[in-house]
Amino acid sequence: VIEDAAQAHGTTWNGKPVGALGKAGGFSLQSSKNLGAGEGGVFVTNDDAIAEEANRLRNFGQNVALSDKLEFNGDRPLDALRGMDSSRIGWMYRGNELGAAFARTALHKLPELTKLCQENAAWLSAELSKLPGVLPPSIPKGASSVHHKYRVRLDPKAAGLDIAPKALRDLTIKALRAEGLEVVMWQSAPLPAQPTFITREGFGGGFPWSLDKETDFSSLYAVSRFQRTQRLLDCSLLLFSQSCPLIAQPAEIVREYAKAFLRVWNARAELVASTRSTSTTKSPEARA
Ligand SMILES: Cc1ncc(COP(=O)(O)O)c(C=O)c1O
Repeated sequence: VIEDAAQAHGTTWNGKPVGALGKAGGFSLQSSKNLGAGEGGVFVTNDDAIAEEANRLRNFGQNVALSDKLEFNGDRPLDALRGMDSSRIGWMYRGNELGAAFARTALHKLPELTKLCQENAAWLSAELSKLPGVLPPSIPKGASSVHHKYRVRLDPKAAGLDIAPKALRDLTIKALRAEGLEVVMWQSAPLPAQPTFITREGFGGGFPWSLDKETDFSSLYAVSRFQRTQRLLDCSLLLFSQSCPLIAQPAEIVREYAKAFLRVWNARAELVASTRSTSTTKSPEARA
């Protein structure tokens, strides 16, 4: 198993850090992440054979070996003694040293930031869960979360509202933003429902991949199979944003988020009613 731990730096599962649960793991250093360094990422493994394979993949399939390190000459870092031939399919996934140096420094601050983030999230979740129809993120037993995204679900029925979940989501986003909060949706549809997969751009050419002919991918990835994901996206919003993520927020700001959310939620019936009167109220011209 290769873990995609792109967003989860510092998260644990049954006490073990993610990224170390499988044979190998990957973390993103893209700028929105809890450990951001602009772009790039970190690949981790304890298996030398996998490390060598990963090195080949990231370096256009060159026959890179861990033993190359022994020959590395810091004065001539760009030159190797072997031929630079591609022995297999690979990519140009090399990170850059400036980003790596930045990430190393940021790594020292990560535990402290993560702790603050987890305390903030625990406090905010306890406050939001007092509101009827508001479901803050829950953390499964045995897991921890570093809250790279803080997703809040809204249940109109439990909130006593007669409105579709998606309409309530959009209304709440608008009202929270009007209160000055950072609120985003992130993706609004499951991957198979997104245009690039619907239009199948570049699909089926057989290069560089060919698909297993036995599997019916059209049924496997039919949009109708992802209704639960769509329902989740329709009824939820993300508090905080890529530019102002929870991990970077001081406790006072998080207190203000809770207060503003409470104000909006207390006014939810009026907000819903106001959309109805706006849609049924005629403009002065129409009334005339
Ligand atoms: C779960 C997951 N995997 C992979 C990636 C890709 O990471 P990168 O932007 O570093 O390529 C992301 C980025 O958001 C992600 O959320």
